Amino acid sequence: MTLSITQAQNWIEEDLQNFYQSYPSTPLFEPIQYLLRIGGKRMRPALVLLSHQLFSDTPEKAREAALAIEVFHNFTLMHDDIMDKAPLRRGQITVHERYNTNTAILSGDAMMIQAYQLLMKRPCKNQHALIELFNQKALEVCIGQELDMSFESRNDVSVEEYLEMIRLKTAVLVGCALQMGAIIADASPESQRHLYACGEEMGLAFQLMDDYLDAFGNPETVGKQTGGDILADKKTYLYLQLLSRASQDEKRKLQGPFSTPEEKVGTIKEWMRYYSIDEEIKALADQYSQSAIEHLNAVDGHNEKKQPLIHVVQQLLHRQA
Ligand code: IPE
Ligand code: IPE
Ligand code: MG
Ligand code: MG
Ligand code: MG
Repeated sequence: MTLSITQAQNWIEEDLQNFYQSYPSTPLFEPIQYLLRIGGKRMRPALVLLSHQLFSDTPEKAREAALAIEVFHNFTLMHDDIMDKAPLRRGQITVHERYNTNTAILSGDAMMIQAYQLLMKRPCKNQHALIELFNQKALEVCIGQELDMSFESRNDVSVEEYLEMIRLKTAVLVGCALQMGAIIADASPESQRHLYACGEEMGLAFQLMDDYLDAFGNPETVGKQTGGDILADKKTYLYLQLLSRASQDEKRKLQGPFSTPEEKVGTIKEWMRYYSIDEEIKALADQYSQSAIEHLNAVDGHNEKKQPLIHVVQQLLHRQA
């Protein structure tokens, strides 16, 4: 049996529903249900299932691990929104705004534990390797988040440092998703390595597009406050490139003050467009996606089964949310 992307997504939605319905609607669990119900692309669990089936005809064996990574991802979002003081997530009010910060901290903690419970639910032959990978990547996400925050107050961040930061905060979990599928299916170390690398490259492209959409996306489709990164002085690729091109005078003006938040976002976006940095970031994301596909091509397995994964990589460049 080969799952299409739609079938994989149906499984994930069904499993997520069963998951949150298995907890009572108490102040601890209700916010978890809220965040899981308001949407999400479910990219990471889909990658677990699609990678697993490259080597296996029993896709259900990866369902719990797929659910685990989605619950873990949502835990990181719940806490990320506190750190980023974000008002909106998936077009709805963030958990810490709707409830309160302490609730978002504690419900987030609970989600991380639930992610581990899900991961332990159907032990596979390579269970130890699976948990070890997950632990390593989860810790790297924390390292990336810390770097992201520390960059806010720095003015000397290089593009290389930025790329390493997004590799850690975002790309490693995408690589983890693809490698988890391969581990559960007992794929060769070589295939596992290529799938992890494919995911990292995808994740880099994905975070570059996230940064692009944060500034230039349509707020209605993106579902987050646009311009949030600019207001928080996030050192994104867009901002760093602008800093490297701006004249001394422009650099001074970039530091502010601006009379309103709207003026700050509007002015900085205008300069980014003037230097074509909006186009440049998309071209860079495209390069990473191509490299992701090269790694996928190097994996042992049927070309036909790789098609859904290639489709996910391509979709990522054209996404609006
Ligand atoms: C948002 O991830 C956080 C990043 C790592 C950029 P997604 O864009 O995958 O979020 P959802 O789950 O689809 O809402
Ligand atoms: C999120 O990065 C990374 C993690 C949650 C680990 P962002 O802060 O850029 O994600 P969004 O833009 O809020 O979704
Ligand atoms: Mg953040
Ligand atoms: Mg954020
Ligand atoms: Mg972002």
